[in-house]
Amino acid sequence: VVGGATGAVLLDPGRALATPAGAVPLREPEVRRSAGGVLDVTLRAARSAVPFGGARRTVMSYEGGVPGPTLVVAPGDVLRVRLVNDLPHPTNLHTHGLHVSGEGIADNVFRHVGPGETADYEIPLRPDHHEGTNWYHPHAHGHSAQQMFEGMAGALVVQRREETGRSTGISRDRVLVLSSTAFTADGAVADPFTTRQDAQVRLVNGQVRPTIGIAPGETQRWRLVNASVNHVFRLRLDGHRTTQVAADGVPFRRALDVDELLLAPGQRADLLVTGGAEGVVELRTLPVDIGFGVVLPAGPVATVACRGAAPAPGPLHAAALLRPFEDLRRRRVAVHREVAFTMAGGFGMDGRPFDPTRVDQTCELGTVEEWTVRNETGLVHPFHSHVNPFQVTHVDGVPVDARSYQDTVLVGKQGGTVTFRTHLQHFPGRAVYHCHFVTHAELGMMAVADVV
Ligand code: C2O
Ligand code: CU
Repeated sequence: VVGGATGAVLLDPGRALATPAGAVPLREPEVRRSAGGVLDVTLRAARSAVPFGGARRTVMSYEGGVPGPTLVVAPGDVLRVRLVNDLPHPTNLHTHGLHVSGEGIADNVFRHVGPGETADYEIPLRPDHHEGTNWYHPHAHGHSAQQMFEGMAGALVVQRREETGRSTGISRDRVLVLSSTAFTADGAVADPFTTRQDAQVRLVNGQVRPTIGIAPGETQRWRLVNASVNHVFRLRLDGHRTTQVAADGVPFRRALDVDELLLAPGQRADLLVTGGAEGVVELRTLPVDIGFGVVLPAGPVATVACRGAAPAPGPLHAAALLRPFEDLRRRRVAVHREVAFTMAGGFGMDGRPFDPTRVDQTCELGTVEEWTVRNETGLVHPFHSHVNPFQVTHVDGVPVDARSYQDTVLVGKQGGTVTFRTHLQHFPGRAVYHCHFVTHAELGMMAVADVV
C-alpha cells in the first residue's frame, strides 16, 4: 500500500558509524518571522553562486541560498511577499499547503512574473488556520521543474508562538528541506527531464549528507519537507525515537511512533526526534519502486551524531502539539468525482494535457466533496490539490483512518486509487490539482477546479 506519510515496521537494524571525517553541520536557513500580524518579506529569485550539493555552484535560488529563508507566520497574519524575478525566464510563487485564496494576488499560480519583473503577493491567513509545516516554491508552468531542481524552495511555517522550552519539552526546531538533483560533467545542474530518478544525489538543506547533532534524551522537532522535483523518500532513523505529530501542515489528533516515513514530493512531516544512545547513525532512505522498472536506491541522507548533555526544557509534552479535527466521513457528500492520472497520448489528467484556460471540474463553495483519484499508469504519482486540504478515506478501496488533513498523497501504480473528502470552505475561485512529480505536471499532468 502506498499511502501518505504513515509508518510501517521494517526490521533493519541501524549501523553504528564512526563520525565521518570532514562532517558538515546541517545548514539552518535564516528565519523571517512575522511581527505585529504581518510578515513583509522580499524573495529575490536569481542565479548566483551558492553552496549547493557539496560545492559552490551557480544556481537559481531565493535570496542567495538553498533552501530560501524560512518564513514563519501565525494564524490570522498577513503574509506579504515581494517577488523579484532576476531570472532569465518567468517564475511565480506558490505557498504549498496554506489554506488560503488561490485568486488575485494571493496564492494564484495562474499569474506569471516575467524576467526583470517584480510582483507583490498579499496572502491573509484565517485566524483558525492550522499550525504546521508548509513550503513555497515556483509554479510557473513550463519553468518550475528546472527552477526547483536548482534549489528554489523554502519552508513556510505556521505557528502561533515559538513552541520550544517548557510548554512542549522540545529543545529546538529544525527545518529539513529534502531535495534531489543531478549535475553535469562541468558541475552545473542537469536537466530534470533527462535525468533518471534513480541517478540523483539527495540533499538536505542543499547539502550532501550533513550532520545533525542531538544529545541523549533531548527532543527536537524536525520539520521535514520533500521539495524534490520527482524523488520519493522512505526515511528511517534507527537508535532514536521518532514520533510524528503532523503531516502536510496539519496536526494529528494522536501522536504516532514511526519506524519508517514515506515522504512523496510535496509532502511534509513534523517529527519529534528524541536522542537515544550516544553514537553516530545514518538517516537513510530505503529503496522505492516507482514503476517502469525504476527503483530509487537506498542510501544515507544525513548523519545523526548523538552526544553530550541534553538541554533542560522540561519533560516532553507532545500533547500540546496535537489537535482534534472534524471527521468528514460524518458529512453529507454533495458530489463524488473520479479523476485519473493518464499517459495514453502523453502525460495528462483524464486523457488530456493541462490547459490553464479550461475548467476541468466545477465545484460548489461550502460543500463537502468526495474524490477518487485513479492511477491508470505504470508509475506512482503524488496527487496534490491546491487551496483545500483533504482527508483520505480509502487507499486502493480499503478504508483508512485519516490522521489529519493532507494536501498531497501518493497513488499506487497500475490501477491504484485514493479516495478522499474535502470541504470546499471559504475560498471561491480557480485552483489546480496535479501530479507533484513536477516534471510530470509540466508535461501536462495537471487540471483546473473552479469553486463557485
Ligand atoms: Cu507544491 Cu501545485 O504545488
Ligand atoms: Cu506523475
